[in-house]
Amino acid sequence: MHTVKAIYPGTFDPLTNGHLDLIARGSKIVDYLVVAILRNAEKGTPLFTVPEREEMIAEATRGFGNVTVTTFDGLLVDFARQQGAKAVLRGIRAISDYEYEFQMAMMNRKLDPELETLFMMPAEKYTYVSSRLIKGVFQLGGDVTALVPPLVVERLKAKVPGRV
Ligand code: PNS
Repeated sequence: MHTVKAIYPGTFDPLTNGHLDLIARGSKIVDYLVVAILRNAEKGTPLFTVPEREEMIAEATRGFGNVTVTTFDGLLVDFARQQGAKAVLRGIRAISDYEYEFQMAMMNRKLDPELETLFMMPAEKYTYVSSRLIKGVFQLGGDVTALVPPLVVERLKAKVPGRV
């Protein structure tokens, strides 16, 4: 039997509806999808700890039979090999994502020519959504309820002082 496992890597600080949309799409075309949170964050100080992010993703993806969540450190290609994954799933929202994604995909191919990168586009209504914008807007009092799962809204309220 030919089964395909893919890794969906990212920072997920926090999970957005755009991420969830991609998880839903990806889980339909691969047999197993592993959502993998990078532990050694490259993007400054995160709002949520890695265990908090892992918990939120686990809760939000409970309904998918073939999706699991874990964390990783070091090179993505090494983690993918350990997991026996043949592919990496990444979302492209707009042309502006392309250059960075292309560079990462080509670097990962150089490091492991056997590992493929699959790009999928989220629903149009989430093309402008990013974790960075969600945090910024929420911290300034904006409403993000249509853009992140309800459990993430609750966690944001608990995390950001002055927001109830
Ligand atoms: O959600 P993000 O921050 O866009 O995800 C970036 C991520 C985690 C996919 C990327 O930083 C990554 O794979 N880091 C692991 C280190 C690595 O393998 N670097 C070489 C690939 S260019």
